[in-house]
Amino acid sequence: MLIKITTLPGDGIGPEVTSQAVRVLRSVAEGFGHVLEITEKNIGGAALLSSQDPLPADTIQSCLASGAVLLGAVGGPAFDRYPANLRPEAGLLRLRQELGVFANLRPAMCLRGLEPLSPLRPELVRATDVMIVRELLGGLYFGKRSTEGSAGSRRAFDTMAYSEPEIERIARIGFEVARGRRKQLLSVDKANVLDSSRLWREVVTGVGKDFPDVELSHMYVDSAAMALVSRPNRFDVIVTENMFGDILSDQAGAVVGSLGLLPSASLGGKVGLYEPIHGSAPDIAGQGIANPLGAILSGAMLLRHSFQLEAEAATIESAVREVLSAGHRTRDLAEKGQAPINTDEMGRLVAAQVERTRTATI
Ligand code: IPM
Ligand code: MG
Repeated sequence: MLIKITTLPGDGIGPEVTSQAVRVLRSVAEGFGHVLEITEKNIGGAALLSSQDPLPADTIQSCLASGAVLLGAVGGPAFDRYPANLRPEAGLLRLRQELGVFANLRPAMCLRGLEPLSPLRPELVRATDVMIVRELLGGLYFGKRSTEGSAGSRRAFDTMAYSEPEIERIARIGFEVARGRRKQLLSVDKANVLDSSRLWREVVTGVGKDFPDVELSHMYVDSAAMALVSRPNRFDVIVTENMFGDILSDQAGAVVGSLGLLPSASLGGKVGLYEPIHGSAPDIAGQGIANPLGAILSGAMLLRHSFQLEAEAATIESAVREVLSAGHRTRDLAEKGQAPINTDEMGRLVAAQVERTRTATI
């Protein structure tokens, strides 16, 4: 099969982690006899510097002409002074919009043996396996917004708006994902305060009638945040709006040990977009010490969701598990007194493990 993808390394640690994900994709493609065709393009601050646009037209074209897009990260303090529409983050938001990817899947798992990495007690975090289904094209990120008035008395607002069709389509994805797992869907909102959340709850409940086999429950976002740290292993699938999902998924990352481990897939549009959920981490950029596993696991999700290559995806995931259970740790995962390995070494180990698995099964 031809695996034709566009990579968008972006800013900060983005290029470092993306190149390790590509290395692992190459080794799995080679092992399974696929052809991997990669076009690299600019996004975010990197694109701003080279073409004054955080999402240049040729980047969009390349993405739309690919089977999937793999992104590193965007943003950095150097771009803080740019106007909102020119910030690196605006490029990523526009890309999500151009691709039409409204459903963002963010799995967070506490792998066996990694319990000590969590700031929570091991018995609390053990066996945590939650999938956050985040609505990606609505809410505060895309609602009407403005800053008005003159210095000293300015007023700024952002609006959280959701239409019934927008809620319905993400709810369906939530139910379908839950159906393929433990059949428990938790819808998170703030229906005690927000109109958009009351509509959200009503529509999700309605969609639930089509999924009688899935157990639906609802929680306010504040109590969901609390439950996610007090009993993370009770969650199966969480469906929620854009901003709540952004916040809860970072929290889930910390709960399972490191944000650096978490991949994501953005689906439902013309082309799937895959990215680790961490940011550009400017504080450690360029040092070669970032954890590439979130990006590598995003590569696995890319193979699964955009190319239906389940065995190949599972090969990457089990290679990551093997490498971690052999005790290899990047700095974010290292325990006290343990010498961490760098980004390149982690990528090399996973790629080598992919090759070993593949040879063993022939
Ligand atoms: C994420 C990030 C982005 C978001 C930023 C970089 C725009 O935090 O993917 O979670 O808020 O969606
Ligand atoms: Mg985020």
